Amino acid sequence: MFRTIARYGARNIPGSVTAAVKAIVRGQGVRGPAIQEFEERFAAYHGVQNAISTSYGRMAFCYILRALELPRDSEIIFPALTFWVVPEMARVLGFRPIFVDIDPITFNMDPAKLERAITPNTRAVVPTHLYGQPCDMDAIMSIARANQLAVIEDCAHALGATYKGRKVGTEFVQKLKVNRCRPQRMFSRKFSSAICNAN
Ligand SMILES: Cc1ncc(COP(=O)(O)O)c(C=O)c1O
Repeated sequence: MFRTIARYGARNIPGSVTAAVKAIVRGQGVRGPAIQEFEERFAAYHGVQNAISTSYGRMAFCYILRALELPRDSEIIFPALTFWVVPEMARVLGFRPIFVDIDPITFNMDPAKLERAITPNTRAVVPTHLYGQPCDMDAIMSIARANQLAVIEDCAHALGATYKGRKVGTEFVQKLKVNRCRPQRMFSRKFSSAICNAN
């Protein structure tokens, strides 16, 4: 468990392999006290009330999109530089991924481009905090509020990163928040992702 990293070499969180094996032997690899503890600690770390673990970041995203109950064919805006599976998940669920260019300095979504891409069918935006660097959330949230867009933060690369003193994925989303607990693929499959809901 928590040790597969192709790009940066294996890293282990002390005790995680034993904890995972014990949970699996008890038949509690998917549900049980270890997962509950993980969710509670994950929520506490982020200063939110609830966290729900999912098998993959992409599944967290899928559950959030379904929970939002957006109309079919809604447009969802992504940065052009992201992991392809995430917009593909939106497409598979019947939505239209729209891509906007990134800021060449930060490599994150350019808020000005986001604003220009909004149409009457746009319902959500997915700021992706790449390489540990938070997006310009003040600008993105102000555009989202003005256009009534749901904001789903992709924190796959930025677990624990802060924006203006607050952890990414915790303060800014109007409805639901997603945190993929696998920055740069630090963790392998089990317990790899979590959804945070502050409300
Ligand atoms: C930016 C980004 N978002 C989402 C994901 C998806 O996470 P998962 O592979 O857990 O579905 C990844 C995976 O590398 C990613 O790099």
